[in-house]
Amino acid sequence: MTQIIDGKLISSQIKDEVKERVAALSKKGREVTLAVVLVGEDPASQVYVNNKKKACEYCGINSKSFELPESTSEAELLELIKKLNDDASIDGILVQLPLPKGIDEDKVIMAIDPAKDVDGFHISNVGSLCVGREGLVSCTPAGIIELLKRYNVAIEGKECVVIGRSNIVGKPMALLLLRENGTVTVCHSRTKDLKEVAKRADILVVAIGKPKFIDDSYVKDGVVVIDVGIHRNEDGKLCGDVDFESVKDKTSAITPVPGGVGPMTIAMLMNNCVAAVENKTK
Ligand code: GUN
Repeated sequence: MTQIIDGKLISSQIKDEVKERVAALSKKGREVTLAVVLVGEDPASQVYVNNKKKACEYCGINSKSFELPESTSEAELLELIKKLNDDASIDGILVQLPLPKGIDEDKVIMAIDPAKDVDGFHISNVGSLCVGREGLVSCTPAGIIELLKRYNVAIEGKECVVIGRSNIVGKPMALLLLRENGTVTVCHSRTKDLKEVAKRADILVVAIGKPKFIDDSYVKDGVVVIDVGIHRNEDGKLCGDVDFESVKDKTSAITPVPGGVGPMTIAMLMNNCVAAVENKTK
């Protein structure tokens, strides 16, 4: 019997832990405040941003909303970020992606003060992760490490295969697994014989963005499968990058979709908000 890794449960535990840390800071007269910036009216982004604000409320973190029209220029957005960087009452800055066409996302991310970069996207934070220094870490991969640890999945010495090399998930995921002493392979669209490489994995992290792409022919017996994908299929149901029904009997543990990796991203964002303040007061 495989173990279903319950991301909903673990994310609630993490949010409760954050809530306690926020309360402890509050006792010392220190509040935690996140600036949430949304540009345009992308419906999915609106849902994500609302969920992030709700999580802030639950944890006792102040959220300050900045909702800008689709017509906002890059210069205007950069000006807002500068204002938020300079505002000592703001601890974290989250700019929801994707940004409207015509705004250079990279330029925007690079404009955020790395100490307030609660998404962990700034190259200074990515670089810190790469060389083993402390910094803010991208939320989804950080959440996956928490899931593995809290389910007592050993990483040290294990064959870890990451499918996908995005800056937000694949690359930081590989660095985090390496930090935990895993033997890490990163696969991508040009990988030759993906199946054979994936089959080596003791821990397989899938972030390719293709619904139900990974079936039982990609995994060996006893593998731990982490599914980062989220898609809505023909009948309106949510599914991941992994064909859950096909692989589940070969796995020793697996994340479901929904309720696996998804809820962890926001929980780790809350963790990064409080960490941004704790880092300052250390
Ligand atoms: N859009 C999709 N995922 C994310 C995320 O983790 N952070 C931000 N800022 N935007 C996103």
